[in-house]
Amino acid sequence: MSDYQVFLNGEFVPEDEAKISVFDHGFLYGDGCFEGIRAYEGNVFKLDEHLDRFYTSAKALDLTPPYEQAEMKDLVLEACRVNELEDAYIRPIYSRGVGDLGLDPRKCDEVTTVIIAREFPRLYGPELYEEGLSIATVSTRRNPPECLSPNIKSMNYLNNILGKIEANQLGVDEGLMLDTKGFVSEATADNFFIVDDGEVVTPPYHNSLRGITRQSAMDVAEREGLPVTEKPITQFDVYAADEAFMTGTAAEIAPIVEVDGREIGDGNPGEITKQLMDAFEKVTRTEGTPIYPKETVEA
Ligand SMILES: Cc1ncc(COP(=O)(O)O)c(C=O)c1O
Repeated sequence: MSDYQVFLNGEFVPEDEAKISVFDHGFLYGDGCFEGIRAYEGNVFKLDEHLDRFYTSAKALDLTPPYEQAEMKDLVLEACRVNELEDAYIRPIYSRGVGDLGLDPRKCDEVTTVIIAREFPRLYGPELYEEGLSIATVSTRRNPPECLSPNIKSMNYLNNILGKIEANQLGVDEGLMLDTKGFVSEATADNFFIVDDGEVVTPPYHNSLRGITRQSAMDVAEREGLPVTEKPITQFDVYAADEAFMTGTAAEIAPIVEVDGREIGDGNPGEITKQLMDAFEKVTRTEGTPIYPKETVEA
């Protein structure tokens, strides 16, 4: 049993004591929202951006967080300190809380707050970052914004999980999801990019989650002097691309070398993709909110 401490409704408790009710609507209905955040070498990367998205997701669910955003920022840093972490994956969660067996959120008295902080390696195996991933288009379409906006990072991930199950059944490393019109949306837990004639291209975010790493990759690419475009892309565009990669907090930047049995480019991680992976790694090591204020380190 690990000795991680988890923040649960106002206090840090040992991981094995961090339990919530089976009547919590997060458990019963997936009613709640969350974030996935990383810290590198003692600094939390893009913390404000993640918390902005977390609080926007809560607002979209009409869920009133028990903590102000500034308080949550302190709690996220505290969750790293309590667990003596420098490199971490941090998962804040707000669920609707304990209610009855009906859906009505008005029956839930108190929002449940959880913050998990622990070590967590990159999402895919280390060899895949060297050799590149094989992915396949799955038949499950990304849920459209007119049904449930992919921009609510909700606790209901069944749409993505069905896509992941298909990818597993197909024996590939990841699933590529299309939107309901047949344009590329995103992978099951990452945003998707192609590189075409030196241009870095990603689909607009309305039919996918507006990823924080997606934005970082776009910023990094621009700083590297590469043209970056957000435009709809088709499966044909993917097959014809010179390079492809995915971005996400858990995955970071992951190269793709095969889609639907077609080699992308020459079947190796692309040069621009590798350039962006290096540049992104540098950014994660030089930016961020310090977990341990300097005085504490020097004391
Ligand atoms: C469905 C989905 N798309 C994309 C991403 C990547 O977003 P980010 O870079 O903010 O982690 C995630 C992960 O949070 C995700 O769950």
